Amino acid sequence: MDRITIAIDGPAGAGKSTVAKEVAKRLGISYIDTGAMYRGAAWLVVQHEVTASDEAAVVHLMDSHSLHFEARDHGGFEVFADGEPIAAQLRTPEVSDVVSQISALPKVRDLMTKWFREFSRRHSVVMDGRDIGTVVLPDATVKIFLTADLDERTRRRAEEFDKKGYDVSWSQLKSDIEQRDARDSSREVAPLRPAADAHYIDSTGRSVSEVVQDILNVVEQVSYD
Ligand code: DC
Repeated sequence: MDRITIAIDGPAGAGKSTVAKEVAKRLGISYIDTGAMYRGAAWLVVQHEVTASDEAAVVHLMDSHSLHFEARDHGGFEVFADGEPIAAQLRTPEVSDVVSQISALPKVRDLMTKWFREFSRRHSVVMDGRDIGTVVLPDATVKIFLTADLDERTRRRAEEFDKKGYDVSWSQLKSDIEQRDARDSSREVAPLRPAADAHYIDSTGRSVSEVVQDILNVVEQVSYD
C-alpha cells in the first residue's frame, strides 16, 4: 500500500487517542496525538506563568523550550520540552483548563499545523485531534469523526482522573467537558467540526476493539476502491 494518512477528529473524551493508537499499531504506521502537542504548549504556559491569551509570548515559549514530538513504533508518541519527555504531565486538570485558550491562538495553530503536515509528508500516519480532516490533512486517505454522548465521555474522563488520583467531581468534570467542547467548536480558527467526507462513528456503549475494527474496515474499503 502507498503512504496512507488517517484523520480522527471528535470532541473531548470520545476515545480518539486510545483508538487511534491501536489503529496505528495494527497497521504498523505512526501515531500523532495532536492534542498532546497543544497540551505541551499549555503545560509550558502553566509552568512559566505566561498569560494564555498572549500569542507572541506563547509562540516564543514554544520556540525557546524546543517543544517537539517524536513518533515511536507500535503507536508510541512522546512530547518533549527542553529535551525532556513531558507526556506524564499533560493530562492534569490545570493543563486541561488552559489548553483550549492556547489552541484558539492562530499563530500557535499555524506552527503546529506546519509540524504535523511535515511529518505526514514523509510517513504513513494516524493523527487525532479536532481539525485534522478539515485543516491539517484535508486530503487524508480516511477521515473519521468519532464521538460519544456526554455522560459516557464524562465517565471515561472520570475514570482516567480517578486512576491518576485527581479528585474532581462528576458535575465539575461534565461541565468542564461541555465548556471545552463549546470553546473548541465555536472558535474562529479551525473549529471542531466533521469534514464533509468524514465517516461518523458513535462509540457510546461500544468497546475499543469494536471501534478499531470499524475504522480498519473503512481503511480496507478505501484502499481497495
Ligand atoms: O484531545 P485533547 O483533549 O488532548 O486535546 C486538548 C485540547 O487541544 C482540546 O481542548 C482541543 C485542542 N486541540 C485542537 O484545538 N486541535 C487539535 N488538532 C487537537 C487538540
